[in-house]
Amino acid sequence: MENTHNQNSQYYIDLEYKHGAHNYHPLPVVLEKGEGVFVWDVEGKKYYDFLSAYSAVNQGHCHPKIIQALKNQAEKLTLTSRAFYNSELGKYEKYITELLDFDKVLPMNSGAEAVETALKICRKWGYTQKGVDEEKAVIVVAKGNFHGRTTTIISFSNDDNARDDFGPYTSGFISVEYDNAEALEKILQENSNVVGFLVEPIQGEAGVYVPSDGYLKACYDLCKKHNVLFIADEIQTGIARTGKMLACDYENIKPDILTLGKAISGGVYPVSAVLANDEIMNVIQPGQHGSTFGGNPMACAVATAALEVILDENLAEKAYKLGNLFRQEMQKIVDENPNLLTKVRGKGLLNAIVINDTEESSTAWDICIKLKNNGLLAKPTHGNIIRFAPPLVITEEQLLDCLRIIRETIENFKA
Ligand SMILES: Cc1ncc(COP(=O)(O)O)c(C=O)c1O
Repeated sequence: MENTHNQNSQYYIDLEYKHGAHNYHPLPVVLEKGEGVFVWDVEGKKYYDFLSAYSAVNQGHCHPKIIQALKNQAEKLTLTSRAFYNSELGKYEKYITELLDFDKVLPMNSGAEAVETALKICRKWGYTQKGVDEEKAVIVVAKGNFHGRTTTIISFSNDDNARDDFGPYTSGFISVEYDNAEALEKILQENSNVVGFLVEPIQGEAGVYVPSDGYLKACYDLCKKHNVLFIADEIQTGIARTGKMLACDYENIKPDILTLGKAISGGVYPVSAVLANDEIMNVIQPGQHGSTFGGNPMACAVATAALEVILDENLAEKAYKLGNLFRQEMQKIVDENPNLLTKVRGKGLLNAIVINDTEESSTAWDICIKLKNNGLLAKPTHGNIIRFAPPLVITEEQLLDCLRIIRETIENFKA
């Protein structure tokens, strides 16, 4: 293998460009080290990470407790498959279900797999418990959703880029306007084959769209009324990101099916999970669903440590408090720069600014390049929206320093 020591960023960018599929459009920065809220590039430049790997690194980069759990388990046992029991899985299952108050968990790896799993459980519940006729089950999804990249999931996306030329698509889904409980009610009244409603409590990828207060509760109540499962995808919003352990906690609702991913491993290892109570989860029987890596001992050890860190360090409370501070200070920057910015929105430390330009413009990207040059890494979600989601371990002093960088970048920005 070629000695790559001391190569510059361009070298690694070229390598990826030549040998890797072009399925992402990364900012031109090559990272090689991370600690807490900081990352360093191969030239040694230090940055604040304001993306947190799409909210997977809530606990900060390379959190020592999570890394230690990984190391300890890696030296003992890494993978057995579910053909055998392992000594970590049951302990983790007990821990996470007690923590989040569900009877059972089904462990998977990626977020998309967790969503696929939830959809399968929901359909099966619809046929075996609700009594929907064979092949007729319908799941309602929200317009603007992002739930992953598998064929079924992109079948019900309305993002052309994610969807075009990947058909034929999976049927059995109806889209409803997000943040519109009346529209959902109409569908539920008209269609008795609906078995589930899948929703993100805040639409992260769509641009951090926060629905009106009471929307989730209204949808939840409608689902109860019509015997439909309320499925919350908290893969991005969960695990303290929005200032509560789950974003659904803001409206005191407990989803019938909950999907988690990303930060349940602190960004250390791919771990995802589907949680539900017995009357729903027990529709899945041996041989009907699985994953070679899902529930492996490393994943269980890492996820347990990652969840403990959230509690030990009060990261939900911290995200709540610092999120309020961030939006308050960011609002001042928005007010002072109306030519460039139109609003800041979000909850906890999941926030976004909206740029005063079209979706097709490159302004958000151009601002992210300047932010990078000034030592802060963020990424546009769409052409005119930039998400700001630092690790939750960020201190108040660091957050104020980041606001200073954002302010200076915005004030000096020339298109
Ligand atoms: C709400 C939501 N669901 C699902 C996913 C997919 O997760 P993964 O990329 O791990 O498959 C994401 C990823 O951004 C997400 O934000």
